[in-house]
Amino acid sequence: VTLGAGTYRDDKGNPWVLPSFQVANERLNAGGDHEYLAFFGSARFLGHASRLVFGNARQTDSIASVQTIGGSGAVHLAAVFLKAFGRRPETVLIPNQSWENHRGMFAYAGYAVREYGYYNMATRAFDLAAMQADLLAAPDRSIVVLHACGHNPTGCDPSAEEWAKLASIFEQKQLFAFFDNAYQGFVSGNFAEDRA
Ligand SMILES: Cc1ncc(COP(=O)(O)O)c(C=O)c1O
Repeated sequence: VTLGAGTYRDDKGNPWVLPSFQVANERLNAGGDHEYLAFFGSARFLGHASRLVFGNARQTDSIASVQTIGGSGAVHLAAVFLKAFGRRPETVLIPNQSWENHRGMFAYAGYAVREYGYYNMATRAFDLAAMQADLLAAPDRSIVVLHACGHNPTGCDPSAEEWAKLASIFEQKQLFAFFDNAYQGFVSGNFAEDRA
């Protein structure tokens, strides 16, 4: 695995394609008509995606799904959508550190981007106290970008107890939790476990 770009390589350094992707690609090429999809994407794909992220017991009437071009397209579209529909105040907090494109995408959408403490270089671990302090100091109702699991680039996530403590600050300050879920399944090797 090349960790910088997040791609798989074989022993010779050549790209290694996931077997699941190969199967999907073959099926699409064999049977697809390459027509335009419906405006919000393929309903079938979106159903499977929401089941993967929220589980079978999800409340479908409180979930809206839109298909985008990759994870980058999803973050970009969500940033532009939130800006267009007037989320106030216009502050977005991203973790220090984060996937670097978060900053550019929210800045491009017109938000003031600030950082919250996340990774402690000295302990090489997630820093709950720093994150709590910065969330409490943020303007009420700010958007806070969270990595659902497998935080990029540190690989450090809050524990279940720490998530619960953070959630109460979100409630108290009416912060908007913006989850970027790029690595579900990569932490434990199990989609359901990473979802929890
Ligand atoms: C946290 C995070 N979000 C989004 C993306 C972008 O995903 P995609 O490659 O599907 O555009 C990445 C890819 O590195 C990522 O690490």
